[in-house]
Amino acid sequence: MQNHDIANLRLAGEGAAKIYLAERQMPVLTNLRATYSKSKFLKGLTIGMCMHITKETAVLCRTLLAAGAKVALCASNPLSTQDDVAAALVKDGIHVYGKKGETIGEYKRHLRAVAMHRPNIILDDGGDLTVEMLQNHKEKLGLVIGGCEETTTGVIRLKAMERDNVLRYPVIAVNDNNTKRLIDNYYGTGQSTIDGILRATNILLAGKSFVVCGYGPCGKGLSLRAKGMGANVIVCEVNPFNALQAHLDGFRVMPIEEAARIGDIFVTVTGNTHVITYEHMLTMKDGAVLANSGHFDVEIDVEALNKKAKARKKVRQHLDEYLLVNGRRVYVCGEGRLVNLAAAEGHPSEVMATSFLGQCFAIEYLVENMGKLPAKVIRLPEEYDLKIARLQLEAFGIKHDKMTEEQEKYVKSWK
Ligand SMILES: NC(=O)c1ccc[n+]([C@@H]2O[C@H](COP(=O)([O-])OP(=O)(O)OC[C@H]3O[C@@H](n4cnc5c(N)ncnc54)[C@H](O)[C@@H]3O)[C@@H](O)[C@H]2O)c1
Repeated sequence: MQNHDIANLRLAGEGAAKIYLAERQMPVLTNLRATYSKSKFLKGLTIGMCMHITKETAVLCRTLLAAGAKVALCASNPLSTQDDVAAALVKDGIHVYGKKGETIGEYKRHLRAVAMHRPNIILDDGGDLTVEMLQNHKEKLGLVIGGCEETTTGVIRLKAMERDNVLRYPVIAVNDNNTKRLIDNYYGTGQSTIDGILRATNILLAGKSFVVCGYGPCGKGLSLRAKGMGANVIVCEVNPFNALQAHLDGFRVMPIEEAARIGDIFVTVTGNTHVITYEHMLTMKDGAVLANSGHFDVEIDVEALNKKAKARKKVRQHLDEYLLVNGRRVYVCGEGRLVNLAAAEGHPSEVMATSFLGQCFAIEYLVENMGKLPAKVIRLPEEYDLKIARLQLEAFGIKHDKMTEEQEKYVKSWK
């Protein structure tokens, strides 16, 4: 097995500069690194990671390295790798397997390469490394202390594994931390999805009909940001509670069949499949723009589009034009893969600092409770969320109120 498989080791200098700047914006992690480099609590352990290879993930890798771990990392999406960052991480001594634009075959080989390092802790983003371990490396499962999952789609897959009795070790649903869902899914996805669409298209949002499919934390953050830039937001949602909230938040709510006819820009953030079908596309206006920010590239049926469109042309770096049989054209950003990572740089570093603090605390929790946790999907106790929020507030230089003793007593009393 190779020690790494990346695009170009000579890009390491550029990658290191990017990581340096990310570190400046992630003091909660660099502070933790200083503590970990004394305790070395991960000495002798291997961390296998399947995550977007970005400058922020690099800061997490360096933190784990400082704690004494060996780290092997592969990409959690074929388009999200920052090749210069991957090169810098190899120079840091991390086993990196990922190239921007890698084929599905390479993607799978890279998952396998990480599994071959015999990881003791799995950090996953979407569940692919977990599936690889459970299906193809059964003989190594005894070595696994536990896992941590970064995103909603991964947690949903893990819960299905638990239901089907195939999960063999405890997994902490880092995604389900309140701090993660608020700061990453809501604020992070809200901003970075728009960043990705703008980098791919450079279109004006003001005055456009902007259709958001899925009104979970990601869809809510995105709708609010699009509205703030002057777009007319329309929400499509299958869950009546979330549809009601979208309505009361002031957005138009309607089925996708109706929205397809009037939208200018469409973004899927559902975690579901075929939310926008080829038939929907046939009813869209000439020039409609489609993007996805959900984890997998199945939300917009790009496969059907590739088969049925009359022609496909790359018109900008992350934008493909499709000529439909009815003579209209639609534009797909980042091949329908999550647009904030395919066409931009993912969330801002400050956002990822919060998510990755959650990953570090989850690892600490797994190590402290080794052998005591069930092979289930577990949420971290609430105190961790409060600690993450407190540390991030301190990093932002914000002070906040504390209850007086009298107030503490009052809120606990029934009298
Ligand atoms: N791009 C990113 O950086 C990023 C960040 C965090 C999460 N994610 C991913 O984004 C997706 C959404 O995350 P979330 O936390 O908001 O999830 P969530 O499950 O809380 O919300 C998804 C919403 O979509 C709705 N939905 C499902 N199927 C639908 C359909 N066919 N039409 C319309 N609505 C539908 C659901 O009812 C739900 O309200 C997941 O795949 C998650 O992994 C991406």
